[in-house]
Amino acid sequence: MLFIGDIVGEPGRRAVKILLPKLREQHALDFVIANGENSAGGSGITPKMADEIFSAGVDVITSGDHLWDQKEVMELLQNEPRFLRPLNYPANVPGHGSGIFEIKNSKSGIQNPVLIAVLNAQGRTFMPPLENPFSLAAEEVKRLREQTKIIFVDFHAEATSEKIAFARMLDGQVSAVVGTHTHVQTADEQIFPGGTAYLTDAGFTGPHDGCLGREIEPVLKKFLTGMPQRFEVAKNRVQLHGAMIEIDNASGKAVKILRVSEAVV
Ligand SMILES: [Fe+2]
Ligand SMILES: [Fe+2]
Repeated sequence: MLFIGDIVGEPGRRAVKILLPKLREQHALDFVIANGENSAGGSGITPKMADEIFSAGVDVITSGDHLWDQKEVMELLQNEPRFLRPLNYPANVPGHGSGIFEIKNSKSGIQNPVLIAVLNAQGRTFMPPLENPFSLAAEEVKRLREQTKIIFVDFHAEATSEKIAFARMLDGQVSAVVGTHTHVQTADEQIFPGGTAYLTDAGFTGPHDGCLGREIEPVLKKFLTGMPQRFEVAKNRVQLHGAMIEIDNASGKAVKILRVSEAVV
């Protein structure tokens, strides 16, 4: 399977459209998950953006702290089972923090129906306060494991310590934990002793000639003056970032994890 880090704006969506069909073919990918929290002009996601991302070959879209930036997101939360929001919102908030999906696009000989569970949670260190992701994810994973051992987790968080601790807690219980939110890909991909693949951050998909996908000047001006600025999406050096994970079908344990960084040329 492939996980794609935060898709930023039009350049990010373009990168997915151009590169994903090739990656699917080249690596016989069975399932593709992407974080879409920045897909609408860098902030949030709309049903139209989600459609574009699904049409490019993504099976499930996860999100994070930019969830509420576009009001149309409500439609996705209420009607789109392939769209996930962080699990650790209070119980009455629309949407789902996890889902179970059938793996259908198999070119690798997997007999259908194989089920994959996807879980999205958000950290609390240097982030808006939410419910405790540790206790809620542990409970949710227990519930998901009654249906499948193949479980992918997108942990949307800022602090490396929180991300590593969260993933260590789930070692042996899920197939992979990959972090998002910092937009900077880390180089610590590994498989923990219990069989859980891990990468602190997948990076982001979009224009890398900028500050985390935005134009440099306004970001710099904000740091220099403290005055609010409009952060336009940058344009150049468009790349798709993420991680490819091979999972043993029977045990749900990870066999291999590879960082992905592909340029749009
Ligand atoms: Fe993001
Ligand atoms: Fe984020």
